[in-house]
Amino acid sequence: MGGDLQILALKSIWIIFLVSLVTLFLASSYIYPPHNTTACYIFFSRGCKALTNRPPPSPARQLSDKEFASRIVFRDILNIPPAQSKYSKIAFMFLTPRSLPFEKLWDMFFCGHEGKFSVYVHASKEKPVHVSRYFLNREIHSDEVRWGKISMVDAERRLLAHALKDPDNQHFVLLSESCIPLHDFDHVYNYLIHANMSFVDCFFDPGPHGNGRYSEHMLPEVEKKIFRKGSQWFSIKRQHALIVMADSLYYSRFRDYCKPGFDGKNCIADEHYLSTFFHMIDPGGIANWSVTHVDWSERKWHPKSYGAQDVTNELLKNITSIDLSVHVTSDVKREEQVQACVWNGIRRPCYLFARKFNPEALDKLMLLLKF
Ligand SMILES: *[C@@H]1O[C@H](CO)[C@@H](O)[C@H](O)[C@H]1NC(C)=O
Ligand SMILES: *[C@@H]1O[C@H](CO)[C@@H](O)[C@H](O)[C@H]1NC(C)=O
Ligand SMILES: *[C@@H]1O[C@H](CO)[C@@H](O)[C@H](O)[C@H]1NC(C)=O
Repeated sequence: MGGDLQILALKSIWIIFLVSLVTLFLASSYIYPPHNTTACYIFFSRGCKALTNRPPPSPARQLSDKEFASRIVFRDILNIPPAQSKYSKIAFMFLTPRSLPFEKLWDMFFCGHEGKFSVYVHASKEKPVHVSRYFLNREIHSDEVRWGKISMVDAERRLLAHALKDPDNQHFVLLSESCIPLHDFDHVYNYLIHANMSFVDCFFDPGPHGNGRYSEHMLPEVEKKIFRKGSQWFSIKRQHALIVMADSLYYSRFRDYCKPGFDGKNCIADEHYLSTFFHMIDPGGIANWSVTHVDWSERKWHPKSYGAQDVTNELLKNITSIDLSVHVTSDVKREEQVQACVWNGIRRPCYLFARKFNPEALDKLMLLLKF
């Protein structure tokens, strides 16, 4: 009995001793903060703040004078508030070798909406014959366009420059001769004019048809990790069209080092320049998908083209109800990158236009679309 009490008293003394020791230690570490990381790990005290924080990221790459100047110009253009008046127009820019097989369909689409759109045609091979009044005298000066070459990007920039001349043009859509509209004019107009972003297709493809085409000659301005891929069929806001016009630095890197056969790569400038450019300059301002649908599911060099027999109500309904954008990487993994199409915070179908349709599909399309 007495022995037990003695042991208890000894234990209490020990406990009091230990508690005071720890208190003293903590108090002193608070007053005299430890200055090495191990001590910081054991005692989280105020003096550790600077040390427990992760080291600052390695300093960003020093921009060259030219790059710095470009970035300043882009920033100020992007800060211009978008104009939204009842005179706002959409510029429909057609990139075609010759006559447009679907002029009659576009005529039906545009009819009754005068004042809300303008048409530009870049015909690179032959002077087109027009069947629609909306296309008459709308050809701009054009030059040869070679598939895969920078001349494709040059034609896009030429169209943008001509369309920018009209201050009422607020949105700029690039279309080909095989493109068709999927909805009536008002639907397309409201979708584009009221969108708070541009629709530029953009994704990271680690495979041979993506980053495998990158050449280190593009350094230092274009780093491999920021190189992107995407379909050329964009639909962009005026501010974005302006920064494309203002860019000569990044454009020149793609012109000189992204071309078929250069550096052992098969780089195609129109599939990389704008995707990479917007990803660098305004990643949050682009949707990362194109509003022009195309079917790559056959996995050939060119996408599926629809003939008259393929054009059915079901096909059109299928395309217009898609509300997920899917990108497939070109490496062995064939990874599917799926993203919901979100328009001003609302999930909506992705597509307003579609390609590629064969000319003989015209009558069937006129019958089924009836705008
Ligand atoms: C597009 O992708 C970039 C980079 O992955 C991202 O920062 C941006 O938020 C995306 N845009 C939208 C609208 O989700
Ligand atoms: C439409 O979509 C359905 C469901 O995915 C599919 O079974 C059908 O084959 C599609 N039809 C056409 C014409 O693409
Ligand atoms: C667009 O609007 C949505 C919803 O208001 C918002 O979440 C998003 O950040 C906006 N995007 C841009 C680029 O302003």
